[in-house]
Amino acid sequence: MSQYKIFFDTSENMKKHKVKDVKLMITSPPYWDLKDYEAENQIGYNEDYDTYLNRLYKVWKNTFDVMQKDGVAIININTKSFKSSLKLLPNDFIKQMQKIGFYFKDVHYWHKSSGIPAKNNLKDNFEYFLIFSKSKNINFKKEIDFFDYKLNSRPSRSNIWNVNKKFGSVGKKFMIHPAIFPVNYISRMLEIFTNVNDLVLEPFMGSGTTLISCMQNNRKFVGFELNNKEYKELIKENVKSHDLDFSLVKVN
Ligand SMILES: C[S@@+](CC[C@H](N)C(=O)[O-])C[C@H]1O[C@@H](n2cnc3c(N)ncnc32)[C@H](O)[C@@H]1O
Repeated sequence: MSQYKIFFDTSENMKKHKVKDVKLMITSPPYWDLKDYEAENQIGYNEDYDTYLNRLYKVWKNTFDVMQKDGVAIININTKSFKSSLKLLPNDFIKQMQKIGFYFKDVHYWHKSSGIPAKNNLKDNFEYFLIFSKSKNINFKKEIDFFDYKLNSRPSRSNIWNVNKKFGSVGKKFMIHPAIFPVNYISRMLEIFTNVNDLVLEPFMGSGTTLISCMQNNRKFVGFELNNKEYKELIKENVKSHDLDFSLVKVN
C-alpha cells in the first residue's frame, strides 16, 4: 500500500475515502473572495462568507473525526480587507475549531521577507499559522535545528519564523499556483509535531508542498485537491522537481 495518497475530490468528502489515524493536519485553505483556483465548486470563490465558513467547518470536523487522540491541526490563514475594514478570518476559524472540540494552543507567525503591497493598508508581511490539538496537552519537540535568515542564527524555540516566500509560484509558465507556502516551513512543523511514519493530512493541496515535505521527511501523506486538471499536473511536476519519485504516490 502506498504511503502517499492523493484524492482529487473535495475534502468535504474526506470520510467517504476512509481516512483515519491522522497525526497532523496542516493546510492553507482557499482564501475567501480572493482567488479563483479554477475548479468547479471550489470553496471560497463566488460564495458568501457564511457559506465559506460553513463549508470549511465540515472539513475541520472531518479532520477532528479522523484524527488520533494526540493529533494536531495547523491552519495557515490571514486577515482580509473587505469593505474598507479588516475581516478577522483567523478569529472566526478559532471559534469554529473550538466549537468542534479542538484546543487552541498557539499562534505562529510566518514573517516573509517580501510582503504583499496593499493599496489602502500597510504592507502585509506576515501570515498566521494557528495551532490546535485534539487533546488537552500537546506533545512537541522543543528543540529543532534550523537557520533563520533574519536572526542570522539558529533559534530553537520561537513563535516567529522568518522564511522567504518563493516568488512566481511553481511549475511551468502555463501551470502556476497563486498561493504556496514554503517546503522548509512545513518540514519544520513536521519535525516539531510528528515522528517518522506518522500520517499527515492536507485537505487543500494546491501545488503539493505538504506532500513534498512528507516525502522528504518520511511521513505518510493523504491529501485532497479539487482541481484535477492543471494542479494535478503541477503537483506531479513539483514532486519531480524536488528529485522525488512520483510513481510512489497513489492518485485516486
Ligand atoms: C491556498 S491553496 C493551497 C496552496 C498550498 N498550500 C501550496 O503550498 O501549494 C488552496 C487550494 O485549495 C483548493 N481547493 C478549493 N476548494 C477545495 C475543496 N473543496 N477541496 C479540496 N481542495 C480545494 C484550491 O484548488 C487550491 O489549490
